[in-house]
Amino acid sequence: MEEKFVINGGIPLKGEVSVGGAKNAAVAILPATLLAADEYTIENVPHIDDVLILLSILKRLGAKVEFLDRNTVHIDTRAVSTGRVHMKLAKRLRASYYFVGSLIGRFKDVGVYLPGGCDIGSRPIDLHIKGLRALGAEVDTKYGIFHAKADKLTGAEIYFDQVSVGATINVMLASVLGEGTTVLKNCAKEPHVVDVANFLNQMGAKIRGVGSDVIRIRGVKELHGCDYSIIPDQIEAGTLMIAAAATKGDVLIKNASPVHMDTLSTKMREMGVTVEEYDDAIRVTCNKRINAVDVKTYPYPGFPTDLQQPTTVLLSTANGTSIIVENIFESRFKHIDEIRKMGAKVTIDDRMAAVQGVECLYGSTVKASDLRAGAALIIAGLMAKGTTEIYNVEYIDRGYDRIENKLISLGADISRVPVEEEDPAEFEVDFD
Ligand code: UD1
Repeated sequence: MEEKFVINGGIPLKGEVSVGGAKNAAVAILPATLLAADEYTIENVPHIDDVLILLSILKRLGAKVEFLDRNTVHIDTRAVSTGRVHMKLAKRLRASYYFVGSLIGRFKDVGVYLPGGCDIGSRPIDLHIKGLRALGAEVDTKYGIFHAKADKLTGAEIYFDQVSVGATINVMLASVLGEGTTVLKNCAKEPHVVDVANFLNQMGAKIRGVGSDVIRIRGVKELHGCDYSIIPDQIEAGTLMIAAAATKGDVLIKNASPVHMDTLSTKMREMGVTVEEYDDAIRVTCNKRINAVDVKTYPYPGFPTDLQQPTTVLLSTANGTSIIVENIFESRFKHIDEIRKMGAKVTIDDRMAAVQGVECLYGSTVKASDLRAGAALIIAGLMAKGTTEIYNVEYIDRGYDRIENKLISLGADISRVPVEEEDPAEFEVDFD
């Protein structure tokens, strides 16, 4: 049944909250279990819809999947005997392209429905294809299927023309069982890229240099299962940090890596927010109107595009005008139409948004257009005066594990309710 969030805003978030496992690491690590016919126990797996879809694809391929508790999964891939992921489920998320990298390693012949994911502009896969071809695979994408096959995969030197998380991980997956050494240049350095490489090394892979621009992979003959714990989610940690500041709250965010959050922490301090770092926790406090700041998204360690939308909302009530430049995706300002309904004053020019801070936002009826836009709207609802209803909650569930429960534990008034037969447009208030 369709659901919506109803938020009564204006309550400062206070208390302690723990961050779950990294979505973007989990969605690569689960397909990576197919590289060896063996057993794995993976901890700190976020219980989110994208993960549940990947696990059902693994099951349909013949793997045994069992949750030992909400965030620990036991996977046995010994009975998997095909590289064909011809399930329409694969179209529902971006990360299904990782089945290509892992299954070509094991079966040398793979077909996966072309990936879906958030609609945030064109999301080409040319760099994935370039990498796989360089390793010796024949690749085509006819009939909406990402198909690759190879008699053998041979190490190569590959330069990514653009820094890409997906292409870096996918080509790494494809090359760990290749012959000889693969050198990847201009790689993504995100914490989840490092985590996937650490997982592969735990399986017996020989990957070095991860976290830098150049990754070297010495192919091995076979890999084996392992036990692994996924790192904390950088974007969930950032979302909670921003929510704490946006509500003028005081929140200790536990199970978060301060190093991974450094760029956001620095930006938030520029805004006048207090950010204190501990070994694996971050405390965010804010008791005054924040300053406007400029933000440009870049690959890690630059400002993450996934936190651009929540940050835009935070800045909507800042003192002054902030300029936001989205360098990674061409269409990542869809949340702005929605926050304008709540009173935000924002103008957009292509990939640049000028956010003129207003005194406060007002509750309204809004719709999430994608995962992080949804998170941004929750923050808008928490900081607004009055009641906000957020539709399209399913986007938010793709990447956050019941986010409302964490916010309720911090004092927020947010509830998930079934959508009745009503026309949301009736309730919209336009402040423009
Ligand atoms: C991943 C994350 C997503 C995050 C993004 C950037 C997953 C499942 N998703 O997405 O949450 O917002 O990284 O940090 O991990 N590009 C090409 N050709 C390619 C591949 C990418 O031109 O073959 C371009 C994209 O259009 C984009 C840029 O490279 O402009 C970065 O994209 P990429 O890092 O690949 O993002 P995703 O892996 O799709």
